[in-house]
Amino acid sequence: MEYKLHPSILAADFKNLGADIESVVAAGADGIHIDVMDGDFVPQISFGMPLIKSIRSATDVTFDVHLMVTNPERYIETFVECGADIVTIHAEATRDVENALKQIRRAGVKVGLALNPGTSLSTLDYIIDDVDMVLLMTVNPGFGGQKYIEKATRKIKALRAMAQNEGRELDIEVDGGVIAENLNTVLEAGANIIVMGSAIFNGKAADNTKLYKEEIRRFLG
Ligand code: DX5
Ligand code: ZN
Repeated sequence: MEYKLHPSILAADFKNLGADIESVVAAGADGIHIDVMDGDFVPQISFGMPLIKSIRSATDVTFDVHLMVTNPERYIETFVECGADIVTIHAEATRDVENALKQIRRAGVKVGLALNPGTSLSTLDYIIDDVDMVLLMTVNPGFGGQKYIEKATRKIKALRAMAQNEGRELDIEVDGGVIAENLNTVLEAGANIIVMGSAIFNGKAADNTKLYKEEIRRFLG
């Protein structure tokens, strides 16, 4: 299984966004996590298509687009046209999860499904084969810089076990409150795609990226 670090640009300084992205990529970031918030599924509005299109010209790295958007099926193709490589929708945001996942698949990119901390893993029964990646929210979505919800560790472990039972090398992404102090915990629990926002962009983003990549390498032994 591949282990990846995806800095979340929600925590970046937008006036230097292009340079920030280039520097974390040069420092070893495996992808960029892009949080799209619509002011309906979550209270905040972050950014949308024009921004993604514009930063696409800065780098070839994987764009991991996390749609915190109600009825995301309205926008899937558009985000792919803007440069998304992974499109993740929330199970809580659509009435027809299965169809929305198929729509992402048809659009030709990796299929991600996000679950809020309070959403049961049983949501994945019967649809786990339709997804490439499950994003487990380890905070309630909406804001960067929140505290990791400890109970989520158990959920990561349970999902890794569920995937193993199915004989799948499922990508498990963790998102929210991941910092130096709990990076090892989420890796040990079974996460292999690590989103870090404030832990990377508060301070020197390139140095932090190197530091956390190193910690992931150490974990792998
Ligand atoms: C929260 C977002 C996260 C956020 C992570 O709604 O989905 O991706 O940017 O930021 P930190 O790492 O600061 O919790
Ligand atoms: Zn996110």
